Amino acid sequence: MSKNPVTRRQFLSYTLTGVGGFMAAGILMPMVRFAVDPVLQHRGAGEFHATSKKVADLTNEPTRVEFKYEQVDAWYKSDVTQTAWVYKDEKGEIIALSPVCKHLGCNVTWGENKQHPNQFYCPCHGGRYELNGKNVPGTPPSKPLDAYPTKVKDGFLYLGKPKENPFVK
Ligand code: FES
Repeated sequence: MSKNPVTRRQFLSYTLTGVGGFMAAGILMPMVRFAVDPVLQHRGAGEFHATSKKVADLTNEPTRVEFKYEQVDAWYKSDVTQTAWVYKDEKGEIIALSPVCKHLGCNVTWGENKQHPNQFYCPCHGGRYELNGKNVPGTPPSKPLDAYPTKVKDGFLYLGKPKENPFVK
């Protein structure tokens, strides 16, 4: 019986497999890292986008503000256009509401329905919202309009990602 259970051939085979695997990993890892890099990129949670709206021009009447930005989804880049209804409340606080109706996603307008000139109105199924975005009971939407977080920089309005409306208690 041999004292050495591993033959020379086996030792050589194990060594070559180990070294080969190590070298292959060294070559492949940077390639894999490069390929998945966009997915691993950290996106700022509180990302704000510039609008062309001067805060000094805002009144207590909602005005339509459109803004564009480039969206990067892993390897795919696209230009996104979004809209907000923006005004200042009685305390001078900026309120920016999403126009997307919480019923089935049509866009709401302000002041276009002659019977309800001081409400947001959804032309698709007659949904209505109060000035602060609260859905009017008895109309199709079951939730308030979402609201954009706002920021002011150099006198211009910046908007974040729409969230649940904090102005409706
Ligand atoms: S989508 Fe707005 S009321 Fe139906």
